[in-house]
Amino acid sequence: MANKGTYYITTPIYYPSSNLHIGHTYCTVMADAMARFKRLSGYDVRFLTGTDEHGQKIQTIAEEKGVTPQAYVDEVVAGIKDLWKTMEISYDDFIRTTEDRHIKRVQDLFMKMYEKGDIYKGEYEGMYCTPCESFWTESQLVDGKCPDCGRPVQKAQEEAYFFKLSKYADALLDLFENTPEFLQPDTRRNEMIAFVKQGLEDLCISRSTFDWGIPVPINEKHVMYVWLDALSNYITALGWPDEPELYEKYWPVNVHLVGKEIVRFHTIIWPAMLMSAELPLPKQVLGHGWLLLEGGKMSKSKGNVVDPVKLIERYGIDALKYFLLREYTFGQDGIFTNEVMLKRMNYDLANDLGNLVSRTVSMIEKYNGGFVPDLTDAVEEVDEDLKNIAVGAAAKVEANMDEFKFNMALEEIWVLVRRANKYIDETMPWVLAKDEATKARLDNVLHNLAEAIRIISVLIYPFMHTTSDKIRKQLGLWYADVAWEDALTFEMMSGEQVKKGDAIFPRLDIEKELEELEAMQGGNKEEENIPLELKDEIEYDTFDAIDFRVGTILQAEKHPKADKLLVFQVKMGTEKRQIISGVAEHFKPEECVGRKVLVVANLKPRKLRGLESKGMIMFAEETVDGKEVLKFVTPEAEDGNPVA
Ligand code: MSP
Repeated sequence: MANKGTYYITTPIYYPSSNLHIGHTYCTVMADAMARFKRLSGYDVRFLTGTDEHGQKIQTIAEEKGVTPQAYVDEVVAGIKDLWKTMEISYDDFIRTTEDRHIKRVQDLFMKMYEKGDIYKGEYEGMYCTPCESFWTESQLVDGKCPDCGRPVQKAQEEAYFFKLSKYADALLDLFENTPEFLQPDTRRNEMIAFVKQGLEDLCISRSTFDWGIPVPINEKHVMYVWLDALSNYITALGWPDEPELYEKYWPVNVHLVGKEIVRFHTIIWPAMLMSAELPLPKQVLGHGWLLLEGGKMSKSKGNVVDPVKLIERYGIDALKYFLLREYTFGQDGIFTNEVMLKRMNYDLANDLGNLVSRTVSMIEKYNGGFVPDLTDAVEEVDEDLKNIAVGAAAKVEANMDEFKFNMALEEIWVLVRRANKYIDETMPWVLAKDEATKARLDNVLHNLAEAIRIISVLIYPFMHTTSDKIRKQLGLWYADVAWEDALTFEMMSGEQVKKGDAIFPRLDIEKELEELEAMQGGNKEEENIPLELKDEIEYDTFDAIDFRVGTILQAEKHPKADKLLVFQVKMGTEKRQIISGVAEHFKPEECVGRKVLVVANLKPRKLRGLESKGMIMFAEETVDGKEVLKFVTPEAEDGNPVA
């Protein structure tokens, strides 16, 4: 096989903060299909994945569980590796950021950037989103919240090291504008151009308020910002700088495959780090869309994550991989539903592909003693059509794979699958078999079908290798390795002994499966109408007795004698009054000033630690990642107005 050179592909390294759901597996399934495709078509492939194990969030989770961070990550990472094994992910290396090989090399990279003069000590003050491990400037916040996840951010202030990211703004703009293939799709590229044009600030790259991280080599009181640590994995796993053999062979990477929300880290921070260290930039970063549920994002706290392992146990890994790759368009968000999945599995796999194989093998058994017949001269025009589609499919698959259009690549294969099924209907081998005079024609038909299926078995190999093996076994091709070039020729089958096996994809009873899946997944909590657990019912009069008003917070300060209380001065139309709320753990006084609020205005006044509180401000309670979070209830009307 021609050696087409090297091909290095990576997935993001996953946070071991919870078990991975179907959304996480989407990226890895794509990367795996691409790695297998490139290997089959003659590339020397390196496929890297791993886990991103440092940071405050992991430390906090471990503390909550009462174990060391290392013990915690060891356990979750073992589960992630098991998942990839179940999913038959063909990675060549799995990097953990807690491994010595990584830690040492990240420190080397830090030193390179430091020696370049790109790292300096300063005072950090900014808004930090703990779940995302991200610092934001005020202007980047959306409604005062983290622009990525929408959760509250905290002000953080500390001595810290900074990376001169701003120095690289022009070089980055130049990269986005003049090397469009560096970042695709274009929508993401335009977003990044706009982001850089807004102005880049230097990046805080160290923390000293927790210690679960890689020590900063020039000051061990600090640990490295987790994204600096994480992004470096792509070269530390290749042995840069001390064991450079793999690095020299595979870097720069052909493609970093990442979810759309982490494109920014991969196309701004990571290239700037590499520029600083004077290392070559990635050839391409591709941002894929998200798998959503009908009710919105999958999230553990909503209890609506889809567990891939359960689906694999029920339908097999190949059916799940086929569905993920066939259903969704790269770069766009897609909605996951059980019904769409089951239909794909039934129509495309059980009906189209499964039937084609079982009908053909049965007919060869029945009409030719189980041996693939050789060609005769009883050729018809329809044969040519089947043959052309069959030998032309590989190039179309390749062209689509070059653009990461997995769904179109599979569609091209299914054009052939459907054409072959139609060929059976057109040629009607069961009629030809009735008459000895048409035996030569029957031989050709069976031969051509076997050839078409052989080609299909090659084409689907990168996406569903187990199914490919099953088909090849039934076709009597168990002895031959799969080679991509074999999909380009229609003249290979000769006398193989076929053997009917079990259906490669059993037909599913969609209604029944839907019911069972929903019971298994606890239903889609977003959609179901489950009555809320409420307090006891009240009479209308009781409700009517409450005077709700719109208020505006004019001032807010901490209660001098109680840590949990904030003292608000609230204006309601003509009246100003003091209201005290137990919300100091949720809001900083300054973020409350100017907010519109809903007030129970006729609540009997009472004293809280010596200060009078007249009324009550309403807040909504939300559970985020298992924690209670308070949110403002914001009325639109002018203050003073009644609410009824
Ligand atoms: N640790 C960082 C990545 C560091 S890479 C140097 C991280 N980890 S993550 O576990 O939160 O996410 C890993 C990947 O999973 C991201 O690319 C993210 O987009 C992807 N997905 C998480 N949920 C997803 C869906 N529901 N759908 C598709 N992909 C999603 O970010």
